[in-house]
Amino acid sequence: MPILDPHSIEFFSKSSDQTKRLGTRLGAFLNKGDIVCLSGDLGTGKTTFVQGLAKGWGSLDLVTSPTFVIINQYRKPDGGILHHMDAYRLSGAIDAINLDMDQIISTGALVLEWPELIQSALPQNHLWIDLKWVDEYQRRMVFTGKGIHYQQLLKEFRIKSFGG
Ligand SMILES: Nc1ncnc2c1ncn2[C@@H]1O[C@H](COP(=O)(O)OP(=O)(O)OP(=O)(O)O)[C@@H](O)[C@H]1O
Ligand SMILES: [Mg+2]
Repeated sequence: MPILDPHSIEFFSKSSDQTKRLGTRLGAFLNKGDIVCLSGDLGTGKTTFVQGLAKGWGSLDLVTSPTFVIINQYRKPDGGILHHMDAYRLSGAIDAINLDMDQIISTGALVLEWPELIQSALPQNHLWIDLKWVDEYQRRMVFTGKGIHYQQLLKEFRIKSFGG
């Protein structure tokens, strides 16, 4: 598990199942108020990662791409909500102004596809995951914690998932 700097880790996923499993591990660490940003080109595995994330977080609901509804909610038995948003559908800064992120994260955790399109509405602290296409089945993922809370979360995730 290469550590790029104290607050980033790099991982090469060899299959969509591996991406899902990694998402499942991370999902178990999420709590209300947490924000996970998934940045990467079309088809790099953002929604695939969320499928695992929702499972690890405890959702019983099926994950679908929110491209046409902007935001989905997945519930778990204790009432917790995971919001899944896709900013690709928003028309940039105009819509971002109307997005009340604080309101969304006051009710649950948030995972966001295409976060770079709504930078202005994005809270400063978050977990940022960058996905890049390497070949048909391989993706490079870089996890970066912004702010002390997410650096700590990433550290626990790293120890639990990779043993160090
Ligand atoms: N290692 C891998 N990790 C994730 N997905 C992979 C991997 N290898 C192949 N794939 C395939 O790549 C595709 C990823 O699609 P997915 O919908 O998750 O992408 P996305 O980043 O959400 O795209 P979009 O920007 O259109 O929402 C799937 O068809 C998946 O099976
Ligand atoms: Mg997607």
